[in-house]
Amino acid sequence: MKKIAVLASGSGSNLQALIDQVHGQEGLIAVVLSNRQNAYALERARKANIPAVFADRKQSAHDSEYDQKILQILQAHDVEAVVLAGYLRILTPILIDAYKNKIINIHPSLIPSFCGDGYYGMRVHQAVYDSGVKVTGATVHFVDSGVDTGPIILQQAVSLTGREQPEEIAAKVLEIEHGLLVEAVKLFLTDQIEIVQRRTIIR
Ligand code: GAR
Repeated sequence: MKKIAVLASGSGSNLQALIDQVHGQEGLIAVVLSNRQNAYALERARKANIPAVFADRKQSAHDSEYDQKILQILQAHDVEAVVLAGYLRILTPILIDAYKNKIINIHPSLIPSFCGDGYYGMRVHQAVYDSGVKVTGATVHFVDSGVDTGPIILQQAVSLTGREQPEEIAAKVLEIEHGLLVEAVKLFLTDQIEIVQRRTIIR
């Protein structure tokens, strides 16, 4: 069974979906890492008897040194792939190169809209609200050297009426994120995703 790591910065509801629907089945979550000591994601991991590690960015001189420490933790747990489940840091080439086409991210919009540097968490939904679009959604993709630019695995749309506040948009999107992330991670763990240039083809 492939061992994966989950990196999370927040409440970890996407992590919970992976614990409930993937862990011990298609793959094993060997470690959960967070850059925030009080991230509820760490608590969810402990409750599921999964090693939970807080990695303090302040203990590293720069981002590459920080990612080097994370890489060591991943290697110590024999991790073959990484899932970013609400991890609100941008990865350096240290991690991206070590896990090429093996890092999966969930983003709470339909890429290439409302994504890139500065678009994370509620900022995405605020921008969606401000723009007045009638459709948003979620995207699961591989991580490459850009921000939210890697090959897309799955996307799902969410309709908006125009009456939703940003918080309601976030809640509607989060509701579909869990199933989408679980599906994409299962496809990955069972070797059903082929990457052809910028595209993925599901076998
Ligand atoms: C999710 O909406 C996820 O898509 C988003 O953070 C939230 C985490 O929720 N990620 C990003 O914005 C990445 N750019 P969770 O902690 O409950 O899984």
